[in-house]
Amino acid sequence: MSKKIILTGDRPTGRLHIGHYVGSLRRRVELQNEGDYERMYVFIADAQALTDNIDNPEKVRQNVIEVALDYLSAGLDPEKVTIFVQSQIPELAELSFYFMDLVSVSRLQRNPTVKTEIQMRGFAGESIPVGFFTYPISQAADITLFKATTVPAGEDQKPMIEQANEIVRRFNHIYGETLVESTVMLPTNAVCCRLPGTDGKAKMSKSLGNCIYLSDSAKELKKKVNSMFTDPLHLNIEDPGHLQGTYTDADGNEHEYQNTVFIYLDAFATDEDFAQFLPEYKNLDELKAHYMRGGLGDGTCKKFLYNVLNSRLEPIRNRRAELEKDIPAIYEMLRKGCEEARKVAQQTMEEVRRAMKINYFDDQALIAEQAKRFQSGK
Ligand code: TRP
Repeated sequence: MSKKIILTGDRPTGRLHIGHYVGSLRRRVELQNEGDYERMYVFIADAQALTDNIDNPEKVRQNVIEVALDYLSAGLDPEKVTIFVQSQIPELAELSFYFMDLVSVSRLQRNPTVKTEIQMRGFAGESIPVGFFTYPISQAADITLFKATTVPAGEDQKPMIEQANEIVRRFNHIYGETLVESTVMLPTNAVCCRLPGTDGKAKMSKSLGNCIYLSDSAKELKKKVNSMFTDPLHLNIEDPGHLQGTYTDADGNEHEYQNTVFIYLDAFATDEDFAQFLPEYKNLDELKAHYMRGGLGDGTCKKFLYNVLNSRLEPIRNRRAELEKDIPAIYEMLRKGCEEARKVAQQTMEEVRRAMKINYFDDQALIAEQAKRFQSGK
């Protein structure tokens, strides 16, 4: 049996979309079913979500249950994976508190992911919440408290794992081998790392309104696929189509673009999908070739994409509908997950306190030694 301990999490700031699905969720379900691990944890990072949503607790609260439903409907199985909620593990706060002494302010300032996020949120220098600025430290605690060896995550999380490993090395160097370094497990398929939004913009994001959610109805899905960004130069069916290119807008600015329909097909469509939904073509290469030659309309490609996506999302949607009938059971599942996770958390914290020499009351040898020291001193 492999000694792998797999751990990963998501901030509950919105429902999960198909970008999450191809980027991580699908892989997690595969990992869960391959069973090549000692333990696997997937958690809802509500405390991290609060670091930049502290005045919007209702948003975080609503999305904890949404994300839990998304997990289960996508196929995560609480019998195989411990699913828990970050804020319910107080040991995480405790470990973060000590980790804070192992990281310098300038090291945190160099974390590229946090840098980008600070810019994206438009925090002016003085208004950055300390908790947001230091969340890589809390994320290091998330990973190390459970002795994770393997963290499935996107490219953007690499700096977090690096920073966590630096903390582990520093901790172990000072206090002795206690914590474990981890490696990030990136998505295997490059398109899956960053699925663009339906409007062709860089990333799916709730604020841009360009997401396809796992919980979208068939009708919503159809509408979104039909309005997807394709090739602005492909005006007539007979025209050659482009998978990517540049176009000049009304103001004379040049834009690079990618044909979003084909990016999604790259991420989702299999040869079996062609056999089932579009048997005129054997595979995506044939479809692309025809599109580029001209004579293939966007409508045909979109209809195919809809069928492919719907065949993936339909079972997820149906499972979700079942799960939504018993919401108290979902909370109970999470509560049990937190209980399981806490057992491990408490065990690691005991080791950490012992290593850091702050386990005053459970160390009889220490008490005896101190007693002797003070007696012999007299
Ligand atoms: N920062 C991650 C994200 O925004 C969420 C997260 C928190 C996480 N703690 C983690 C991911 C630990 C992996 C491991 O998606």
